[in-house]
Formats: sequence, C-alpha cells, structure tokens
Amino acid sequence: MAATAQAGRTGIDGAAGADVPPGEEVRPDAAWREEVRRLAAERNAVILAHNYQLPEIQDVADHVGDSLALSRIAAQSDADTIVFCGVHFMAETAKILSPDKTVLIPDARAGCSLADSIDAEQLRAWKAEHPGAVVVSYVNTTAEVKAETDICCTSSNAVDVVRSVPADREVLFCPDQFLGQHVKRVTGRENMHVWAGECHVHAGINGPELVEKATAHPDAELFIHPECGCATSALYLAGEGTVPAERVKILSTGDMVQQARRSRASTVLVATEVGMLHQLRKAAPGIDFRAVNDRASCRYMKMITPAALLRSLREGVDEVHVDPDVAERARGAVQRMIAIGQPGGGE
Ligand code: 13P
Ligand code: SF4
Repeated sequence: MAATAQAGRTGIDGAAGADVPPGEEVRPDAAWREEVRRLAAERNAVILAHNYQLPEIQDVADHVGDSLALSRIAAQSDADTIVFCGVHFMAETAKILSPDKTVLIPDARAGCSLADSIDAEQLRAWKAEHPGAVVVSYVNTTAEVKAETDICCTSSNAVDVVRSVPADREVLFCPDQFLGQHVKRVTGRENMHVWAGECHVHAGINGPELVEKATAHPDAELFIHPECGCATSALYLAGEGTVPAERVKILSTGDMVQQARRSRASTVLVATEVGMLHQLRKAAPGIDFRAVNDRASCRYMKMITPAALLRSLREGVDEVHVDPDVAERARGAVQRMIAIGQPGGGE
C-alpha cells in the first residue's frame, strides 16, 4: 500500500521541514522551549500535539490528545493560528472547522498511509454500487474524501457514530478495515460494508506478537488501538480465557490515557504507536507500560521535529489550505463527528 505524504494534493505555502538548513542542530532544551512559547504568544497561536508526537513536542504544546479531542479544541479555540503537530489530515480537519484561522503544520510531508488507502474517486465509485447508503469515514482521510462523506468518526466515537445511523440504512465504512471490523462486532450490524484499507504501523502490530507478550506477562492489562492487526487476536484471547475479558481494552489513544488513570494493573501491554507511551507514563507513573511492538513508530508523526516546530513558528509555514468548496462540502460531516460521543481524550 502506498505510504506517501499528501502534500501534493493540497495547497501548501512554504517549503517542507527538510529545508531547515542541514546541520542546524536544535536541541529541545529550556531555551528552545522558551523560544517556542515566545513565538507562539507573539502569533497568538495555539500548539496542538497528537499523542504520537515526540515527547518534547508533546511537552511544549498547549494541548495533547487524540484526534477527536484535538478537533474539538481546534474548533473552539480563539487563537488566530493553530499549529498542528500531527499529520496532514489532522491539520486539514482543523482548517475545515476553522476556515478563517491560519493553520500551520510544521512539516507538510507528514502524511498518513491510512488516509492514502482511499481517494474521492474510489469512494464515489463505491457509493454508486450502494445507492442510499450512509458513508461513515474515519477522520484519517483527505478533505476530498470527507466531502463525499455523510459523517466522519474517530476511533473514540466510531461505535456511537455507526449507532446513530438508522438500522435500516446500509453503512459504507472507510478506510480502516480493523476499526471497521471492530465497530461491526460491537454494533452487531449486518448491513455495514468495510473498505479494505489499513495503517502500515498498526497493521504491523500482529496477533502472534501480542500472544507472545500476553503469555510472558499473564497479569498484564492489554490496551489495544482498534486500528491494530492484533485487535481480533486480543478478543480471541479474551474469548478463550487466556486473558480475562475485563483486562482487554480496545481504546482510542485518548481513552488509553483515561484508562491508565483508572487502572490498578502493575503492567500494561500497549498495542499502538510507541509515542503513546509518553502520556501513559505521565498519567500513571506506577504502571510498567510496555509496547507490544516497539518498532511501531509512525515516521510521518516523527517528521514534526523540534527544528521543524521552531521554523514553523518563526516563518509561518507550512500553511494548510483546503479548497473552499471542498471544505464547505466536508464541514457538515466533520461537525457531526465532533458532536457525537464522549469527550475524547485530551487536555
Ligand atoms: P486516535 O484517534 O486514537 O488519536 O488515532 C489517530 C491515529 O492516527 C491512529 O493512528
Ligand atoms: Fe496514519 Fe498510521 Fe501514522 Fe496514525 S500511525 S498517522 S494511521 S500512518
């Protein structure tokens, strides 16, 4: 599956972060943090960071959270500029919700292999095969796909979103197959079709690895992101009694942080991108959090470096533009998403 950044499909002002002069070492020290905060204040900018960002980016941001929480914060913010430390579809979503604000992403090459799993043309062809169906798209999609969508969702509210669709209407769910299967299982919905897309990072967290780790740590709780290839295996382990069912939690990244605060386990196995461990360890320092796959790192998320953030704030780049007609058509689907479900995890 193609894993390319989406910068080419959208209007972006400014060169990408690679243009930080080679050799410019930016150490994320106290002086860097102070300069980032000073520049953000000067621009009246709010810095949002996804849970998969580098620890130093998370720590300097105003808000850290999952996609749903950050979308809600972006929609409510009264800052003039939103600096989105995450991947491109997240910054685009903020722009769709706040067309009059300046939205910056520190490196526009930060794409998403899951968002690349479906384009607007493919979605239009799929819709033509199922007239009258309701399209539910994961927020990990381009603005053009959102414009063809009835309602967006994130991993945090996908179940609630699908439940909000009248039972007699067919649902087309895209693009993540593992999240789609999870939602289908939980809702028991038969008339739901799932697109066969995936995230290369989460698909790589597989069942055998999870079984091996769960066997080595028999008392551990399991926090599983629903995009993972191992989500089905986790539920199978629970069904078989290998791991008690109450210890298997399928959670969005923000919900993992909430669950960490409630957990009484001494060890938690975490199946998602490894950047997640930083917020989990901060939320529950007494718990031993271990990655199910410690190679599960999203290279797009990691393009947002300390140097790129500094450059973004200094130069006002890379600015995210969404075609106003596309944004107009996508806005309803995104607004319905932020209105449904729990608060989402982020603060
Ligand atoms: P969350 O919605 O759980 O933050 O996940 C976003 C994402 O990109 C997962 O890979
Ligand atoms: Fe996309 Fe996967 Fe990276 Fe999340 S972890 S941003 S779904 S490529």
